[in-house]
Amino acid sequence: MIKKCLFPVAGYGTRFLPATKSQPKEMLPIVNKPLVQYGVEEALKAGLSDIGFVTGRGKRAIADHFDINYELEHQIEGTGKEVYLESIREVIDKCTFTYTRQSEMKGLGHAILTGKTMIGDEPFGVILADDLCFDDDEGVMGQMVNLYKQFRCSIVAIEEVPMEETYKYGIVEGINIKDGLFRVTNMVEKPKPEDAPSNLAVIGRYILTPDIFDILEKTPPGANGEIQITDALMEQAKNGCVMAFKFRGKRFDCGSVDGYIDATNYSYENYYKK
Ligand code: G1P
Repeated sequence: MIKKCLFPVAGYGTRFLPATKSQPKEMLPIVNKPLVQYGVEEALKAGLSDIGFVTGRGKRAIADHFDINYELEHQIEGTGKEVYLESIREVIDKCTFTYTRQSEMKGLGHAILTGKTMIGDEPFGVILADDLCFDDDEGVMGQMVNLYKQFRCSIVAIEEVPMEETYKYGIVEGINIKDGLFRVTNMVEKPKPEDAPSNLAVIGRYILTPDIFDILEKTPPGANGEIQITDALMEQAKNGCVMAFKFRGKRFDCGSVDGYIDATNYSYENYYKK
């Protein structure tokens, strides 16, 4: 039912300079697979096979990654090395990829609005590849797609964070309707701990209903002078139409060096060595 997934990948990745000077941060590997491929695999597992990238300058490596490299294929054909390409081949076979460029960095809300031409008038997923999620069952996006079937409104994945870290996230407040599920009543982008309505932080997984685009078109710049998806979602929440969901699984903030190292160690121990 939900087929499309948007990946905003235009950001600079300044925290990883100089590594990200001429390569996209989304191409940084967690062990032997780039971050963005984990995200696309999660989307595919959830049944979202139309992948749309909101990309920018210096991000061509992403498009090359999700395409066949004939020279390489020819070189390793019939050798034991073919196995290393299996995961990316599967993704290439099963997904379609569309790209549009965000020419100015005006925030996540603006990036999602830039993706409108690829989405049209249907609900869609959004994955921020920096937030790497591991869940061996249906995946975090898969869990959200199942919830969407029930509620038919926008959904954000949330996690409890230490109060002193609220300034890094969109923070939600809501009515607890069942275990781990809230109907959102309030959302604030990156509040100071003393202004935060709770410690429930939005992580980089969203299902959005297409009316979000009209709202984004009218959303003025908010925190950091950027157009925030959090502010647009708050408009939808006024009609009771945003759910927040404590996902099952493990999430790493790979936009920070500490989170990136933790994710690498976790992935190495739990997947690569096994
Ligand atoms: C974005 C969103 C924020 C959300 C976060 C999750 O912030 O604006 O609401 O909590 O992603 O990673 P960013 O990390 O891009 O600054």
